[in-house]
Amino acid sequence: MKREGFNSKAGAIAAAAGSAVGLGNIWRFPYVTGENGGAAFLLLYVLFMILIALPVLMSEFSIGRMTGKPVTDAFKTLSPKGYWYGIGFSGVVCAFVIMSFYNVVAGWTMYYVYLSLTGKLQGLNPEEVSQTFEHTMSDPLISIFWMIIMLSLTGYVVAHGVSKGIERYSKILMPILLFLIIVVCVRSISLDTENKGIYFLLAPDFSKLSIKSVLEALGQAFFSLSLGMGTMTTYGSYISKKQNLPKSAMSVAMIDFFIAFLAGLMIFPCAFACGVNPGSGPGLVFETLPNVFNQMPMGYLISIVFFLLLVVAAVTSSISMLEVLVDFLLSRYNMKRPRATVLAVSLTIILGIGCATFSPMLDFFDNLSANVLLPLGGFFIILFVPLCIGAKKMREEMEAHGGKFKLFPVFYFLAKWVAPWAILFIFISKMLSWMGIELFA
Ligand code: PFF
Repeated sequence: MKREGFNSKAGAIAAAAGSAVGLGNIWRFPYVTGENGGAAFLLLYVLFMILIALPVLMSEFSIGRMTGKPVTDAFKTLSPKGYWYGIGFSGVVCAFVIMSFYNVVAGWTMYYVYLSLTGKLQGLNPEEVSQTFEHTMSDPLISIFWMIIMLSLTGYVVAHGVSKGIERYSKILMPILLFLIIVVCVRSISLDTENKGIYFLLAPDFSKLSIKSVLEALGQAFFSLSLGMGTMTTYGSYISKKQNLPKSAMSVAMIDFFIAFLAGLMIFPCAFACGVNPGSGPGLVFETLPNVFNQMPMGYLISIVFFLLLVVAAVTSSISMLEVLVDFLLSRYNMKRPRATVLAVSLTIILGIGCATFSPMLDFFDNLSANVLLPLGGFFIILFVPLCIGAKKMREEMEAHGGKFKLFPVFYFLAKWVAPWAILFIFISKMLSWMGIELFA
C-alpha cells in the first residue's frame, strides 16, 4: 500500500519536531520540574536527554528509515522471529492512553483561547486566575466538550494525509510561538524582582531529589521527545536517505529542550511573583500565565495568540500519536484512512471522557505513560539495536547520506552499555522503593 510521504526534504524533520514540541514542553515540563524542586531536576533531565533519550531518538529514526515501515511493522521486518513486534503493539496501547489525557489538557488550552477572546481572563487577580482553572478542571462538560473539539481537529488533519496536514501547520506557526514565549519570558522575569524563579530553575539543591524525581526526569525526557512508542520510528520511515540522520535527531532534541527550558523561564518567575506554588501540579501553566498576560502591554491579544499557538503545538503532537493508531489499523485491518481515523478518534474520545470527568484517572494515565510505558518501550527499542541490528548496519544507516558520523562509537556505546541499563536500574530502584527498600537515602 502506498504511504503518504512528505513534500519537502525537511518535511519529515519538521514533523518530528512538531511531534516533540507540544504540551510536554510548555504544560508538563514546568509542572513536573516544579513538583520536583527545580534546578536539580532540570540537570537530571538534561543528563537523561543526552545519555538516554538522544540515543533512543537516533535508534527510532534509524529503525524507521531502514525499513521504510511504521512502527507496527518495522520491528517485525528487522527481526521476523522474535517477539520484538510487541514494541509496535505497546506503542498502539500507549498512543491511546496518552491521547486520551493529552487532548483533555489540549482542550483546556482551547478553552483558554475562548476565555481570552471573551475577555474573561482580563483583570483577574492571581486568586481568581486559580479559581478559573479549578472551575475549568472540575466541570466535566467543559473538559469533555473541548476535548472532543481537539480530537476532531486532530482527526480532520490525519484523515487528510500526513504531508498536506502537518507540514503546513508546524513550519510557520512554531517560530511565532517561540517568539511569543521569549517575549513572555522577559515580562515574567521582570515581574520577579527577587529573582526567586530564576534561582529555583538554575540553582540546584540536590537534597530535593528522590528516586521518584529520577524516574520522573527520565519519563519527562521520553514524553517530551515522543519516544518509546514508535512515533519517531514512524517519522523515521518518512525521512529521506539524503538527510543527515544523527544531525536531524540532535536538532530535534535541541529544539525540544530549548523550548522546555524557555517554558520554565516563563513560568517560574511569574509563579513566585504572583504567589502561585511551583509545585501545584498540572494546573501550574494555567494558573500562572494569565497573570503575566494581565500585566503586559497588549496582554489581551498576546493571551489569545499564545493559547492558540499552544493549541497548534498540541495538535501537531496529537497528530503524531493518532498516526500510530491509524497506521496500525491501515496495515493490520486494511481499512481506508478516513474510516480508520474515525474509529481511532471515537475510541480515544471514550477513554478521554474518563480522564475529563475523573482527574485521578488523568493523573494516573499521565504517570503511567510517561514514567512506565514510554521508558519501558525505550528500553526494548534501544536493546534491539545491539541485539538485532548490530554496529555495522546501524552505522551504514546513520551514514547513508554520504557523510561520516564521527560520534558513532559514542552513540553505540551509550546504546549498548548505558541507556538500557540505566533505564532498568531506575525502574528497579523505583520498584524497590515502592516495596519500602530505598537504594538512595
Ligand atoms: N512530545 C509531545 C509533547 O511534548 O507534547 C507528546 C507526545 C507526542 C508524546 C507523541 C508521545 C508521542 F508519541
